[in-house]
Amino acid sequence: MPAIGYLNGEFQSPDSAVVPIDERGHNFGDGVYEVLRVYGGRAFLSDWHFERLERSLRAIAIDNPHTRAEWARLMNEAIRRSGEAQALVYLQVTRGFATRSHGFPQVRPSVSMTVRKVSEKAPSAHGTLLCLPDERWGNVWVKTINLLPNVIAKEVAHRAGADEALLVRNGEVTEGSSSNAWFVRDGVIWTAPADRYILAGVTRRLVLQLAEELGLTVREQRLPLDDLKDVDEVFITGTTSEVQPIHKVFVDEGTGPALQALPDTAPDTLLQEVSHPVTLWETEGTGVVTAKLREAYADYVTRFAMLEV
Ligand SMILES: Cc1ncc(COP(=O)(O)O)c(C=O)c1O
Repeated sequence: MPAIGYLNGEFQSPDSAVVPIDERGHNFGDGVYEVLRVYGGRAFLSDWHFERLERSLRAIAIDNPHTRAEWARLMNEAIRRSGEAQALVYLQVTRGFATRSHGFPQVRPSVSMTVRKVSEKAPSAHGTLLCLPDERWGNVWVKTINLLPNVIAKEVAHRAGADEALLVRNGEVTEGSSSNAWFVRDGVIWTAPADRYILAGVTRRLVLQLAEELGLTVREQRLPLDDLKDVDEVFITGTTSEVQPIHKVFVDEGTGPALQALPDTAPDTLLQEVSHPVTLWETEGTGVVTAKLREAYADYVTRFAMLEV
């Protein structure tokens, strides 16, 4: 089925829907977004996504254009039109359309949405992570559409042959460029706290709940990068990646100092090449804790798709 698009009251193809040049998301990145997964034709954990959307909108003083019930109706209609059982929903709310000027205009927010099929998951390969300095602003808890540092980090990682970037701020791991990061050391699970320096993932929230149900111990604390060598397991989580085991973490030798403190000098390019890769951590196979959480997550999704949760 073709992708479904929605823009301010009209369902249309994502290829033909257009926003005016003076749309604030386009000009300033002045907006927020959410990404939801559809399993069995239903939006997964939608209340948690709507809760985070409300928080993001409040943070930048955009009036929420819809109640939760209206959001649900709109999204369910888009999913119904897509006819997809497994899909990804992206929804964006920006401050709206107004002649370009930094100050906030008094206009209606702009709402757009897409629904696209997601293929059935192939058995997951073990991912690799490239450590990069976390150069994002100090409010990454807001799910803003300003994703330039995330996009650049992902691109640098991909060019170096990694699946994801592992971001490090002042010598401590925050998260991935589009995922939350987890470590297991001596049976204890470590993940960064949901403070201003990470985007508190909806998947993270479910994994924390599943870990508690499984009786696993979690420490919400940023892992010092120097401790990475001592961890037993690494995995990342996200709406698209679910629970993804990691088998290798590496860094470019030249990046080392910037992981502790960003240098004052501006680089020539942000798309730095990884010329001297150094492995910081490596393992074979999936660790016991990661496997347990992966299974619990998959079970939860299956029960959801069967209308049981
Ligand atoms: C920076 C960042 N952290 C974490 C996540 C994971 O969040 P979620 O589990 O809600 O998809 C994302 C997802 O896009 C992200 O962009």
